[in-house]
Amino acid sequence: MTITVKARHPALGAEIRGIDMRQPLDAAALQAVTDAWMKHLVVVFPGQHVTDHEHVAFTRQLGEPEIFHQTSLHLRSDAVREIFLVSNVDQDGRLMQPSAPSQKQLSSSQMWHTDSSYRPIPSDGSLLHGIEISRTGGITQFINMYMVHDDLPDSLRRQVEGRRARHDFSMLHTLVGNPPPSAAERAAMPPVWHPMIRRHPVTGRKSLYISSIYNDAVEGLDDAAARRLIADLTEFAAQPKYMYRHEWEPDDVLMWDNRCTLHAVTPHDPGERRVMHRTTIVGHEPVLAG
Ligand code: OGA
Ligand code: MN
Repeated sequence: MTITVKARHPALGAEIRGIDMRQPLDAAALQAVTDAWMKHLVVVFPGQHVTDHEHVAFTRQLGEPEIFHQTSLHLRSDAVREIFLVSNVDQDGRLMQPSAPSQKQLSSSQMWHTDSSYRPIPSDGSLLHGIEISRTGGITQFINMYMVHDDLPDSLRRQVEGRRARHDFSMLHTLVGNPPPSAAERAAMPPVWHPMIRRHPVTGRKSLYISSIYNDAVEGLDDAAARRLIADLTEFAAQPKYMYRHEWEPDDVLMWDNRCTLHAVTPHDPGERRVMHRTTIVGHEPVLAG
């Protein structure tokens, strides 16, 4: 099979055809995939009817799959622990209410973020498999944060250069109105500080590194000023010229780079089933200051 790569948006996003994710990639195919990924930041593999085990095996070719640390809300698959469940259907197949704590937590992904930024070494990338897709919304949107960095107005650039922001997993609970995490849960994932401008270890390019769902503090700013800065930066970033919006087809697998993109999903009718399975690639190294 020949591998073809076709851009879907000038800023980021491309589709890759000629890959069967159920089979191991040879060295040339793996190189073609990683080259396309580094160039386009988000790549779509259409028509991949993979099992969870095949999804995990494919992920292993790019790095070690992360095991989600939180167990209380059952967002981690019981059957395949490397799978994170982005789903409004429980593991017995029943549609869940939007008021269920797991659904409230998942709703935070409607705000701009990047996966696992609350870890001391955040994830390199994620692979999301659309199993039952939404037709009423559920569009996954991505921003090219290299371009955002390069275009930052001076007034914003001055406020992020040389600064770090704090990323705290516990912020999710407050954000969505769930009960606070236990002391043990909090201790398992303490807040971490990362540079607001980071350098990508592979491409060498600088990007803006922020999160609306995990950033709860910025060095040198009080809480209100920190919140305002993250909001201003997010508003600047979320412009159509920097954004690819992925409208799902069944069995699309989307792979994105968490080091240079933000993503957010649009709301959908909660009466409609939406089942997506995600693997997350463990990061190789701490965030490099830009
Ligand atoms: C994710 C996420 C996007 C979506 O899987 O990391 O943020 O489309 N979800 O549900
Ligand atoms: Mn996410």
